Amino acid sequence: MNLLVTGGAGFIGSNFVKKVLAKGLSADGYKVTVLDALTYAGNKKNFPPDIWNNPNFTFIKGNILDRDLVHRIMHSQDTVVHFAAYTHIDRSIDLSDPFIDTDFKGTHILLEAARHTGIKRFIHISTSEVYGSAMYAPMDEEHPIKPQSPYAAAKAGADRLVYSYCMTYNLPCVIIRPFNNYGYNQYPEKLIPYFITNALDGKSLPIYGSGENTRDWLWVEDCVDGIIRALEVDGSQIEGKVINLGTGKDLSVNYIAEKILEILGSKNAVQKNKSFSRRIERVRDRPGHVKRLIASYDKAKRLLDWQPKMDFDEGLKKTVEWYIKNREWWEEIKEREEFKTFERNWYSFLRSVS
Ligand SMILES: NC(=O)c1ccc[n+]([C@@H]2O[C@H](COP(=O)([O-])OP(=O)(O)OC[C@H]3O[C@@H](n4cnc5c(N)ncnc54)[C@H](O)[C@@H]3O)[C@@H](O)[C@H]2O)c1
Repeated sequence: MNLLVTGGAGFIGSNFVKKVLAKGLSADGYKVTVLDALTYAGNKKNFPPDIWNNPNFTFIKGNILDRDLVHRIMHSQDTVVHFAAYTHIDRSIDLSDPFIDTDFKGTHILLEAARHTGIKRFIHISTSEVYGSAMYAPMDEEHPIKPQSPYAAAKAGADRLVYSYCMTYNLPCVIIRPFNNYGYNQYPEKLIPYFITNALDGKSLPIYGSGENTRDWLWVEDCVDGIIRALEVDGSQIEGKVINLGTGKDLSVNYIAEKILEILGSKNAVQKNKSFSRRIERVRDRPGHVKRLIASYDKAKRLLDWQPKMDFDEGLKKTVEWYIKNREWWEEIKEREEFKTFERNWYSFLRSVS
């Protein structure tokens, strides 16, 4: 089985590839081809040496917007798991062009190639952000689609485009909508790793607005297990379906900041003499900030026989430990000029009076 993984060098994609190759999945195992443009968020170091040495792993540095390349690669594939995207909401507010290009147009290019090459399963990784703020709780797959950021809108467009290819061309598609992931190898601009690494460096943890906004936090390995189930189950059960992956619990940003400082404090990794309130910095709210996301995962339970396993406090502890042990990985990223420039501009915007 030849499996094309777009965006496989990013956070969720690399965790997915590691698990698929470790698991074997079938008697012969999957032959995995990662197609990744290695944007600022992609990182070859997300793959340990045993992945690079695995004969079932091929890495192609390339862009999903490169139509010829995508068509060439697609010819030898059976299945696609499509992660590639620009993913940081804050950046989409600053400059939306790459989000529309990769997330929407890039998905279109993949779909066109897939329908001309007889792909047997196309798993599209959408996001809970397409829903906008919860109008009821928990949010099932029938919740209205009301994206509140350019990122979310580009992803919503892609999500519906995938559905249209299923309806119009009978392309065997499945749309997975994961809620907020956290875990190993997450790019340190995202909330949890940003807070952990800032705390480790003795810097402040900037909280948008009241900090009472909540998200449904999903351990990345649980998310990956759900996607793997979508590869394993009988296609006729899930084709054309939208499936949430989440935990059914939501936690506020204030809670997360507090918990991170508590874990680090008990590990003595941050100076204990600095109180919680001195570590927290209140900045203005992000424009269009979604207030609440909380998943119903009943459908995933029913169709994929999947449910989340990791308890949040335990997963957060594991994540903190990973960032303590892998300082070299994130320090190299945070020292890049590109990272520092975005951080400086974005937070000076949030620190300015509205
Ligand atoms: N992280 C989350 O909490 C979360 C939650 C729900 C859904 N998702 C979705 O899951 C997917 C993966 O998210 P992530 O957090 O791992 O993202 P990420 O930003 O860590 O990784 C994205 C990867 O895509 C690659 N990429 C970007 N543009 C590309 C292009 N034009 N061609 C080829 N490769 C390209 C990047 O190099 C990178 O390796 C995305 O589609 C995202 O929308 C993420």
